[in-house]
Formats: sequence, C-alpha cells, structure tokens
Amino acid sequence: MQNFDFYNPTQILFGQGQIAALARLVPAGARVLLVYGGGSIKQNGVYDQVTAALSGHTVLEFTGIEPNPSYETLMRAVELVRKENIGFLLAVGGGSVIDGTKFIAAAAVLDGVDPWQILEQRGKPVKSALPFGSVLTLPATGSEMNPAAVVTRKATHEKFAFSSRHVFPKFSILDPSVTFTLPLRQVGNGVVDAFAHVMEQYMTYPADAPVQDRFAEGLLLTLIEEGPKAISDPDNYAVRANVMWSATLALNGLIGAGVPQDWSTHIIGHELTALYNLDHAQTLAVVMPANLRLRKQAKRAKLLQFAQRVWNLTEGDEDSRIDAAIARTQAFFEQMGVKTRLADYGLDGAAIDAVVAALEQHQMLTLGEGRDVNLEASRAILELAR
Ligand code: NZQ
Ligand code: ZN
Repeated sequence: MQNFDFYNPTQILFGQGQIAALARLVPAGARVLLVYGGGSIKQNGVYDQVTAALSGHTVLEFTGIEPNPSYETLMRAVELVRKENIGFLLAVGGGSVIDGTKFIAAAAVLDGVDPWQILEQRGKPVKSALPFGSVLTLPATGSEMNPAAVVTRKATHEKFAFSSRHVFPKFSILDPSVTFTLPLRQVGNGVVDAFAHVMEQYMTYPADAPVQDRFAEGLLLTLIEEGPKAISDPDNYAVRANVMWSATLALNGLIGAGVPQDWSTHIIGHELTALYNLDHAQTLAVVMPANLRLRKQAKRAKLLQFAQRVWNLTEGDEDSRIDAAIARTQAFFEQMGVKTRLADYGLDGAAIDAVVAALEQHQMLTLGEGRDVNLEASRAILELAR
C-alpha cells in the first residue's frame, strides 16, 4: 500500500426527514444563497422542505445551473454572491449543482486571479472558499462528500475537473426518498457513474491493499444487485437508500486511499460530453468496456480477481473469464438503460478524430495508472467502442 493522507471533513445526515436539520446546520445570521438547477426541486417538494427548514434564515436564490454546469452560468452566480455579500451557499440538486456550488464558493473569494485558472490549473489557485452544504437529489457523482468538481466552458467546449481541500461540503443531507422522482435515465446514469468510480480506483494492478479491494468489490456487488431494482421496483425505499450510500462511498476517497488509480475512462469521457453533450454516464458506458478490452494484459491480475469475486466466473481458461467479466460489465450498463456504443449516440469516426484532437490539445497524453494510455491508445479505445 502507498502512503496516503485521508482527509474528509464532510458531515453526512442520511435518511428520511433529514432536510429539516437545515434549520440548525446552516449558520444563523449568514446571508444564504440557495443554488439549484432547472426546477426539479420545485416539482418534487424538495424546495418546499428546504425553504420551510430555512424560514428563520435570510435566503436568496440562484437557479438555472444546467447538467454539466457551465462556467458562463456559474460566473453570474459569482457576481451575485459578491454583490449580495453572501456568507453561506446551499446546493440543492445533483452532481452538477453541487459541483457548480464548489466553483462558485472558490471563485467568489478568489483575488487577482482569472477564475478560469481554477479549472485550467486543476484547483491550484484555490486558497480558500465560502462555506457551503448540500442536499443531494441524485446519487451518482459522490460530489456530496468529495472535494472535486467538473465545469464546462461552453464557448470553447472544454470540460475540466478541479479539486481542492477547501471545497469539501460542510455537510450533505442524503434523503433517499427525494430520489423517487428521478427519471429512469438518471437512475441508470447514477448507477453506472458510481460503478465506474469504483472501477477507476480498483481495476488497476494488485497493490497489497485487501481492505480497499474488498470494500470496492462490496460496492460493485451492491450496485449490481440493487441498481436494477431501482428501475424495476422504483418505489422501494431500501433500494434507493442502498444505491445512494453506495454512490457516496464510491467516491469519497476511502477506497482510493493508498492504491493506484486509473481515471482514463473519465478523462476521455469528459471530451465526449464537451464536444457532443452526451450525459456523463453515457460516456463512461461507452469508453469503459473498450478501455478494459484494450488494456487486458496490463490489468490482467485484477481482471481475474474481478471476474471471480464480482461476477463469480471460475470456469474456463483465464482469457475467457476476463472476456466474460468485461462482457458482463457492458451488459450491466445496458441493463441499467445506458447504451455502450458510439453508434448508439450517432457518433462515428469523425467523432473519434475530434476526441483525440481534444485530448491532444488538453495535454491528456499519458493517462491511466501506468501512464500508458497515450493518444494512440485513446484512439484504439474509441475504435473498439464504435
Ligand atoms: O436541474 P434539475 O431540474 O434539478 O434536474 C436534474 C437534471 O436535469 C435532474 N434531477 C436531479 N435530481 C432529481 C432530478 N430530477 C427529478 N428528481 C430528482 N430528485 O437530473 C438531471 C441531471 O442532473 P445532474 O446533476 O447533471 O446529474 P449528475 O448528478 O449525474 O451530475 C453530473 C455532473 O457531475 C460531474 C459530471 O461530469 C457532470 O458534470 N461529475 C462530478 C464528479 C465529482 N464532483 O466528483 C465526479 C463525476 O465523475 C462526474 O464527472
Ligand atoms: Zn463519474
């Protein structure tokens, strides 16, 4: 196991009825900005619960954070925060709203630096941020308990991630009952995203880290068991709760501490979203199976472990077990309603050229745990995903 520094200061309040706790969690006396998306929270009662809990606070609102939040929209929120002297932010929504709020929190107090540099330099300019909390409505990204955010600059089709220890949420409220209103597409997206997060931290090479491995395998098995039930039995609270907690634990730093990590699927996927506006999870469902196929040799030991422990594949020779495990993974994404081929999204060879050119422009030249996913490998992955 490698040395690590595990730091996670986010308080989690999990379960039905927890939104009421906002009354005591949000600092009294602060001017609060409620940040949300396109309005789903107004239709499903979450907005009413939040405003009721905050009836004793001074609350302003910023709405219109879009999926894959844009720099352009977020900068309007930054202006409002400065003008209105906001002291606390409350994100209510999915990963896009929480990520957007992290950027707003950091950019609002940034002095003498162009805010785009937060993204361009992956968080380096962030020396402080406004405090914020979140009410999560879509289990997927893990943003509710991590220090990362992804922002898209629409004008230039750039989608970059940043992270900083200053942008952990102070608290996150996870009430699984608010996820009953999710469209099936978002349920499937969330399960695939969480699954991919575990894989990016687990599917590398053995690192004498059995705790992280078994924890990761437990999350994968839970997502495989519970994910399909969230579609077939959508009103089941226990299923929603288990999906929600799995997604949070998939990317809160715990399973990735002290082990090698990959993330090449995500980086290639971000270019697909920036260029063609695919949902984040759609890009992962396309790239990940092809990525595993291309790098079968480098990931051989872990693929065999995955085949046995996650998919219970113990018969036949090693190569056939590995192939079957990757095929099962792809079939699982399809079962969750997320298509796994570029052609399913109307993309062809021209898109492959464009993604590879974007990776080159963004200096994404040596990805993965072995830094061996160069531009040729990225192209080969996309070719395998056609
Ligand atoms: O905008 P509203 O009206 O709220 O509707 C949203 C949105 O249209 C809707 N929705 C959310 N909760 C709902 C609901 N509809 C009905 N009922 C509910 N309870 O769902 C749509 C998608 O929301 P979004 O927040 O975009 O989805 P998600 O949580 O999947 O977030 C995706 C973003 O997170 C980034 C992605 O790149 C993408 O930009 N990621 C962030 C990460 C992180 N911070 O660590 C890691 C991830 O790998 C990922 O890259
Ligand atoms: Zn993701």
